Amino acid sequence: MSIKNKLISILEHNKGNYVSGNFLANELGVSRNTVWKIIKQLENEGIEITAKTNKGYMLLQECDYISEEVIRKHLNLNSKRKMEILKTIHSTNDHAKKLAQNSKNEISVVIADKQEAGKGRLGRVFVSPPHSGIYLSLIIRPEFNIETSQFLTSCIAVAVSEAIDNICGCETKIKWVNDIYLNSKKICGILTEASISFESNSLEYVIIGIGVNVGSIKKSLSSELLEIASSIEDELGKNFSRSIIIAEILNRVDFHLANIKSLNFMKRYKHRSFIIGKEILVSTNKLQKKAIALDINDKAGLVVKYEDGKIETLNTGEASIIKK
Ligand code: BTN
Repeated sequence: MSIKNKLISILEHNKGNYVSGNFLANELGVSRNTVWKIIKQLENEGIEITAKTNKGYMLLQECDYISEEVIRKHLNLNSKRKMEILKTIHSTNDHAKKLAQNSKNEISVVIADKQEAGKGRLGRVFVSPPHSGIYLSLIIRPEFNIETSQFLTSCIAVAVSEAIDNICGCETKIKWVNDIYLNSKKICGILTEASISFESNSLEYVIIGIGVNVGSIKKSLSSELLEIASSIEDELGKNFSRSIIIAEILNRVDFHLANIKSLNFMKRYKHRSFIIGKEILVSTNKLQKKAIALDINDKAGLVVKYEDGKIETLNTGEASIIKK
């Protein structure tokens, strides 16, 4: 751990209380002047630290700093994940892809406080402002076959939806394929990217990118986007620790991935569906057709009925809910 990370970790440990410059200098084995310089760096990064003469430095209670220490404290004991936490990155998915290509690297989750070019599905942008969202990419090397892998996104959607509910005490829903909704607004998107080995007809690795709007996004999104998207804070009127939500996401992901072959999560996926019974617009090859979402089948396909009575099962594509 770098000196900077050690310092923030001590402040995090004592959140809401002052820690003296002398204590920090001794613990870190540096001078008080160096402590002061690192504190200034952290402040420039937007971390809210209060300094008081004769008392020292304090991380404000409301400062939601993504802390490896807090994440590890809330991770299940048997989790051996190696993580990388970054202040800013273009896209955690692109960064994770580079790490995955370098097979010696054992890092299996990349987390950033901010993304400069966050990617959404279908070439869209995922707005990723600092200090408020979770931008996380998992590197998975599936030990299961391509057939089972087709369930990965739905499986992860269940894990993320359950994690948010467990920590925030709410009831999120999943809009096919894998958007998470709270109070009829999207608060989380998932982007899965895979590298296939044609030689062995198997998946080399899969990058699963998860973006959750935790803190308010009212100031970051256009009014057009705010019609469909929101954040946990904007919906529940309360802020939650990103580190604790991240830990629970990793816990639920580990649990569901270990049991993916049983397909037990499919019951939960269907139960959490936000789309069944709704009027939708199905987009395929630039064409949009009105339909009713009838069901989700055992393979996570969306069964729809078009206005002309034709019934079809969609395995990929986009379906948006028609607002009444
Ligand atoms: C969508 O809603 O269309 C999917 C959004 C996925 C966003 C996440 S944030 C972390 C990861 N890195 C990215 O560039 N995208 C995903």
